[in-house]
Amino acid sequence: MHSEDIKLLMKQSSKDGLISFAAGMPNNDLFPVKEIDEILSNLSDDIKKLCFQYGPTSGYPPLVKSLQKMMERKGLKLSTDKVLVTTGSLQAISIITQEFVNEGDVILAECPCFVGALSVFETYRAKIIGIPIDDQGIDIQALKEAIANLTQKPKFLYITPNFHNPAGIIYTEERRRALLEVLSGTDIILIEDDAYGDLYFDDKTAPLTRPIKAYKGYDVDIIYTGSFSKILGPGFRLGYMLSSQEIFEKAETIKQALDACTSNFMQILANEFIERGYLEPYLLFLRKEYSERYELLHSSLKKHLPKGVSWNVPKGGFYAWLKLPESINATSLFKDCLSQGVVFVTGRTFDPESRKDNHLRLSFSNMPKDSIEKGVFLLANVIKEHLKIKSLII
Ligand SMILES: Cc1ncc(COP(=O)(O)O)c(C=O)c1O
Repeated sequence: MHSEDIKLLMKQSSKDGLISFAAGMPNNDLFPVKEIDEILSNLSDDIKKLCFQYGPTSGYPPLVKSLQKMMERKGLKLSTDKVLVTTGSLQAISIITQEFVNEGDVILAECPCFVGALSVFETYRAKIIGIPIDDQGIDIQALKEAIANLTQKPKFLYITPNFHNPAGIIYTEERRRALLEVLSGTDIILIEDDAYGDLYFDDKTAPLTRPIKAYKGYDVDIIYTGSFSKILGPGFRLGYMLSSQEIFEKAETIKQALDACTSNFMQILANEFIERGYLEPYLLFLRKEYSERYELLHSSLKKHLPKGVSWNVPKGGFYAWLKLPESINATSLFKDCLSQGVVFVTGRTFDPESRKDNHLRLSFSNMPKDSIEKGVFLLANVIKEHLKIKSLII
């Protein structure tokens, strides 16, 4: 089960003294502590009291309004669609799965795929079919073949088109349209997970992040999910989903039974953060910070990695995805790296069928800048050792 991988991952990434490329989370030093302090000390008594109270299941109304404005700026039209605030976007994925999936139902997912979503799908005992992706997005031919060969209609296709976790890629416009064409009229819902879309490194990339849900002229039901975890902090446990009224209503009922509402306290803080105009400057800061981190990682990889190891060049997000020569197994590499004090996540973790294991995910978001080169140096040495052993065996 992928949930076991996640538990191990959380344990390994928090060990003292390790250089960890494992954790897909922000660095603690980047959080907007000053701004949150200021918000807390300037809240009116009435709003402070609301913080302690239950709120509407669909979300704190002023935050829902702020989210609507944010999504409209991304090109999403909200005339008939509804927003549901969730306790992290993982809860949105879980609610959607509960709404549509019964034991044995088929879900299509990218291969590789965000492991948290895989773990949700497994919890609901779905049959997950992995569709390969390349550096442009999902493999359209493979998707067509999978749909044609299935005897059961898949309940939905789950994708992360912007700064994919773990592959770091962004879907091209052509691939987004080709995907919509394949899904049009099939009745297969598309779940578009946009947890990283605001974290592009360069303004030129911003237009490429336009949500697929904003594309017009296709007959596809799309549920769009977003998160505050990567742009404010995962401790907020704040996410949201945008869907048709019909999907929203059932989702709201499911959420009501799960946790009644997402913490009013956190919703109020996040909304104040947006309303006081702190989000945009903070995003500018994060974009600069993460692009600098990636630059450091990139130059270290170029300097230290042996021939035969390649990686994507992400345009945003948290991840670089390394491809090892077929002869090297990322799981055994991991064990040796751990003893050398550096960790990452093995490719197998993100494979719906836990098979492919010649990739590794390096997250550059969490570690201090001055540890990046040392971490890559240690990793590269272990890879070189493994390559040497393989050449001796051959
Ligand atoms: C692609 C993707 N979606 C969703 C999430 C979950 O985010 P949240 O903290 O909002 O539940 C993550 C977290 O790593 C992610 O990488």
